[in-house]
Amino acid sequence: MHPNRLLSATILAVVAGTALAFPSYESLAGLTGRQLESAIQGLNPKLPPPPPGPLSFSGTKLVDDPAHPWRPLRNGDLRGPCPGLNTLASHGYLPRDGVASPAQFITAVQEGFNMDNPTARVATYLTHLVDGNLVTDLLSIGAKTRRTGPDPPPPAIVGGMNNHGTFEGDASLSRGDAFDGDNHNFNQTLWDQLVDYSNQYGGGFYNLTVAGELRWQRTQQSIATNPEFDFRGLRHFTVVGQASFPAGLFTDGRKTGADKHQLDLVSGLSFFKHMRFPAGFFRASEPTGGVGSDVIFGAHPVLPGRNVGGVNNYVVDTSLGGFGDFCKFYTEFVNITIKGLYPNPTGVLRRNLNLNLGFVYDALAPRLGANCPQVFPYGTN
Ligand code: HEM
Ligand SMILES: *[C@@H]1O[C@H](CO)[C@@H](O)[C@H](O)[C@H]1NC(C)=O
Ligand SMILES: *[C@@H]1O[C@H](CO)[C@@H](O)[C@H](O)[C@H]1NC(C)=O
Ligand SMILES: *[C@@H]1O[C@H](CO)[C@@H](O)[C@H](O)[C@H]1NC(C)=O
Repeated sequence: MHPNRLLSATILAVVAGTALAFPSYESLAGLTGRQLESAIQGLNPKLPPPPPGPLSFSGTKLVDDPAHPWRPLRNGDLRGPCPGLNTLASHGYLPRDGVASPAQFITAVQEGFNMDNPTARVATYLTHLVDGNLVTDLLSIGAKTRRTGPDPPPPAIVGGMNNHGTFEGDASLSRGDAFDGDNHNFNQTLWDQLVDYSNQYGGGFYNLTVAGELRWQRTQQSIATNPEFDFRGLRHFTVVGQASFPAGLFTDGRKTGADKHQLDLVSGLSFFKHMRFPAGFFRASEPTGGVGSDVIFGAHPVLPGRNVGGVNNYVVDTSLGGFGDFCKFYTEFVNITIKGLYPNPTGVLRRNLNLNLGFVYDALAPRLGANCPQVFPYGTN
């Protein structure tokens, strides 16, 4: 069973027979017709607006500003595996509870980090389709956190972007694999490894050279320890960009010349662990996405694949596309992944699926090439 199906069904089982409503921000993926009907009954349907455009002022500026103070977590705030989004929520660029609409995500990542508009749209709509609530147009960056407790806290219940095998995946730089029990909290052991690599390959800074080596190391570690290691399709494509973000987006936008895109590790820890801008942080100096992804991938090219039947048996599997095979990735994502999550949608759900699928295609189009037509698993009207 797809993990997402189990999740929605479990939430529904908890909700059924109580006065609780299905959470407005959880994915409806995998529910059967009748379960969907019951879940959707209590939800407030929303027509998704078109995606926001690029920033009008797209230079660097102070983003750790008085209007966006960092605040500690409150009980029940949702946080997850993305250090960028966690930081934006803890500074109020995203709602501090960690739940927002796709339009709010795009606005926040542009304003707070100067992520470029196409990258912001691609990441947002891909994630919303697999992890968001398509009826209410809400998406959460993770699951509930606890304000107090042991450090690190025990794994919270899954939900939102914590869902494994959707946008979240294996061999992350600072988070463990779902197989090992915690795929979303900051992991000190893995951070220590990032520090070691930065000392060895970056003169004490995280840069694209470090990213290429650490990306390879984390992949080898998952091959050797995770019998369920899955590095196909979306995951193969996203890990490369995500390894570039600390260099491109967590470095202060005032750095120039040889200092540009060299991330000091005190600042790094501030984002990755504390969900906090370094004091006085300036965002990137121009709209930035996965800058240097080709360098990272090129350092140790690994084809998409997964472990089959146990550890240390990585079998190449390009059936879902991946980095460098974007059209295949797009087509299979829509036709196999999304269709698998929502086999027979009707009503508002179908309408909003079609709108969000259109937003993804528009955002990806520049990378897909001329011979990659839009696919319409639910018709065109
Ligand atoms: C709307 C846009 C975004 C979405 C939907 C998103 C979502 C995610 C998710 C779900 C992950 C977890 C993948 C995994 O490790 O399994 C992730 C990882 C990551 N994201 Fe984001 N993200 C977005 C924007 C950003 C921005 C703006 C930054 C930086 C400023 C960023 C930095 C990172 C980094 C560095 C990782 C890798 C963490 C690691 O491997 O330990 N993301 N993102
Ligand atoms: C952190 O990651 C290491 C290495 O994968 C693992 O052995 C350890 O159990 C993880 N720690 C936690 C608290 O999950
Ligand atoms: C990363 O830092 C190391 C050490 O300073 C340097 O040799 C290397 O060229 C840097 N890589 C990039 C891509 O900046
Ligand atoms: C997508 O799936 C439909 C059936 O649902 C099929 O007719 C179509 O050929 C598929 N498109 C591609 C490009 O694989």
